[in-house]
Amino acid sequence: MADRYAVIGHPVAHSKSPWIHAEFSRATGQVIDYQRIEAPLDGFARIVDEFRAAGGCGANVTLPFKDQAFLYCRNAVTERARAVGVVNTLIFENDAVRGDNTDGVGLLRDITVNLGRAIAGKRVLLMGAGGAAQGVLGPLLAAAPQRLVVANRTGSKARALAQRYGAAAGGGYEEFAGERFDLVINATSAGLAGEAPRLPAGAFAPGALAYDMVYGRDTPFLAMARAAGAEACDGTGMLVEQAAESFLLWRGLRPDTAPVLAALRRR
Ligand code: ATR
Repeated sequence: MADRYAVIGHPVAHSKSPWIHAEFSRATGQVIDYQRIEAPLDGFARIVDEFRAAGGCGANVTLPFKDQAFLYCRNAVTERARAVGVVNTLIFENDAVRGDNTDGVGLLRDITVNLGRAIAGKRVLLMGAGGAAQGVLGPLLAAAPQRLVVANRTGSKARALAQRYGAAAGGGYEEFAGERFDLVINATSAGLAGEAPRLPAGAFAPGALAYDMVYGRDTPFLAMARAAGAEACDGTGMLVEQAAESFLLWRGLRPDTAPVLAALRRR
């Protein structure tokens, strides 16, 4: 029987992860079975326990359970998962469980490898101060930007996040009016509601990259960025790259992401 994996979330019906891992499986010859599991909002740990008891080898965890997944691992987490405080990948080994977070490396790889953009030495604006922003802030800072600013609708949350991780500054959008950025990353959930955060006009430096971590839709943020002359990219590449990193953790080899990303964009 194939080794079993799953993505656990709520809701999870829309998840592209089963398709991506099926492609990785076909390309690498690693026979795995990867399913979606929708956990009730109050039943994450029970669902993971059941999946492990049924022989599951590992799982991806998506919204809204990434912080519960961190607690589930009882400190058996990698350094990078500890640094961000949330887990998106569970590895089950005999009776033990280990947690990791591949979101940060997924974003970095998409920007630097797939899109060919440097982060080191650049002016970076991270928009949002929720879980998605927290998950990538540390890895972005580790990539040595010249200046990284966190801006959020609720400025106090961005200030706290910036302080906690040692970013240059944090606050409300209006506080950074007049500043220009080479890389603007939207980690807010505004696009899911068809809205765009109130970004000061002129935030995009000439040749800037605008990156929306939301995937599979042209968000108002991306449309606004394009109108301002920036290159605009959604989070599909980050999704595929974080999946490849999870696959590497589970199977010991990294699948080639380029054909899967190209196929996903065509779908
Ligand atoms: P996630 O885990 O996706 O980050 P979250 O923790 O609920 O979800 O955080 C949502 C983020 O999107 C927050 O930064 C939120 O701003 P506030 O902290 O001010 O609530 C931001 N956000 C959501 N809708 C938004 C909108 N319409 N305009 C601007 N920011 C928005």
